[in-house]
Amino acid sequence: MDRKAVVRAMRYIWPGEPHDVDDAELESLYRYPADPRWLAVNFVSSADGAVEIDGRSAGLSNPADRKVYELGSDLADVLLIGAGTATIEDWRGVHPDEETAERRERHGLSPVPPVAIVSTGRSLPPDAPAITEAVTPTIVITSGSAPPATRQAWADAGASVLVAGDETVDLPAAVDELVHRGLGRIDCEGGPRLFGALLAAGVVDELRLTISPLLVSGAAERIALGAGLDPTALRAESVLAEGDTLLVRYLLARKQG
Ligand SMILES: NC(=O)c1ccc[n+]([C@@H]2O[C@H](COP(=O)([O-])OP(=O)(O)OC[C@H]3O[C@@H](n4cnc5c(N)ncnc54)[C@H](OP(=O)(O)O)[C@@H]3O)[C@@H](O)[C@H]2O)c1
Repeated sequence: MDRKAVVRAMRYIWPGEPHDVDDAELESLYRYPADPRWLAVNFVSSADGAVEIDGRSAGLSNPADRKVYELGSDLADVLLIGAGTATIEDWRGVHPDEETAERRERHGLSPVPPVAIVSTGRSLPPDAPAITEAVTPTIVITSGSAPPATRQAWADAGASVLVAGDETVDLPAAVDELVHRGLGRIDCEGGPRLFGALLAAGVVDELRLTISPLLVSGAAERIALGAGLDPTALRAESVLAEGDTLLVRYLLARKQG
């Protein structure tokens, strides 16, 4: 995946006075707050809500989206994804280039953040490149119901296996454990089933949504899937535009508990 992007002028639209945004301001807008625990979720969607084109997100993305997307991962302690995204999007861990390495060093972050993948064992084979090609060992977040042989195979392939919950993955417990391990700035990069489950668990602090200037129609899924929620209010924290693309940061109220 091409994580580096060259963009035309990015405009800050709201709140406050509209103005051009330089790289330093963009980095400051997209850095994680001082809170030792912050879970930001990144998605790109078409204007009619599609989360993929031909099964992948690449057709929806563009340089402006990739720019904020790379800030999300460059400034995080850990990247969080579901097993579907890890396999469908052919994840291979994080392999920082010079700019990312410089940015991470400047922010006092570890050189290479681990990727944490949520799976009950059905969709994440132990030889997935997201495990075998990772520089920093991938964390597989699973439940007690995952077959012991699968857990052992993940570990043998180089993963660190984190068991949270018995029948299903207990996502609040998993997030607590990441925070406990010093990985509190969490950049979730999808997909829709994991996002739906994180929303139901009430552990999401921020949604970073790129609205791509495309209409897709068809049967594409949308960014959150699951049992459904009582409609949840969002607060728009910042709205940027690059050409016809909108980049919105929304804040959510975390469930207490
Ligand atoms: N537009 C974008 O920004 C974007 C971003 C990411 C992905 N996508 C697209 O989304 C699609 C993939 O969607 P998806 O919903 O299948 O991806 P996903 O949410 O990444 O993966 C779903 C899988 O994650 C595991 N999982 C999720 N929630 C869990 C929970 N609460 N407990 C235990 N395991 C859980 C399960 O794996 P097991 O089956 O192993 O238990 C589940 O099958 C692809 O087309 C991809 O291109 C788009």
